[in-house]
Amino acid sequence: MKHIIIITAILSGFLMGQKSQLKNVKVLPFKTKREIVTFMKTIVAPELGVKCNFCHNMNDYSSDEKDNKIVAREMMDMVQQSNKTMNELNFHEISCWVCHQGNKHPEHPPKEK
Ligand code: HEC
Ligand code: HEC
Repeated sequence: MKHIIIITAILSGFLMGQKSQLKNVKVLPFKTKREIVTFMKTIVAPELGVKCNFCHNMNDYSSDEKDNKIVAREMMDMVQQSNKTMNELNFHEISCWVCHQGNKHPEHPPKEK
């Protein structure tokens, strides 16, 4: 019994520690650093064809000093809003890929001649 209490205490301390690791997350639903890093590595970076430093100061991921990060936050918000509609329609959710397809700056259609 004593052990269980100790383990529970360690675990909850660990989880709370994780929670407080995220300093400046305003749009994404993640609570832990592990979740947000997985999302960044598997969705955001490959779908735009960039590395972390495209948006981040590598010494402080919470810093908003790069314009690309500010734009990306708005894009994440846009994707979340769009997915409410997609869910209502019972369609697949969209992500950055739908428009970016591995490019940091999606092409606009050529102007009509
Ligand atoms: C296209 C831009 C972009 C790229 C590339 C990107 N991130 Fe992010 N990252 C963001 C944005 C925007 C936020 C804040 C999201 C919010 O406010 O909800 C964020 C938040 C984070 C945070 C939370 C920091 C905190 O405590 O506030 C971590 C950690 C992080 N990113 C890690 C990474 C890693 C690791 C990579 C590379 C694999 C990466 N990011 C690539 C845009 C990006
Ligand atoms: C509905 C289409 C669409 C979706 C979805 C989308 N984007 Fe974009 N994004 C664009 C377009 C179009 C541009 C270029 C804007 C322009 O200059 O016309 C852009 C530009 C950007 C830029 C600025 C790049 C630069 O070179 O200036 C960043 C950063 C970005 N998007 C991040 C994201 C991220 C991260 C996601 C996923 C969370 C995302 N976008 C989802 C359409 C989209």
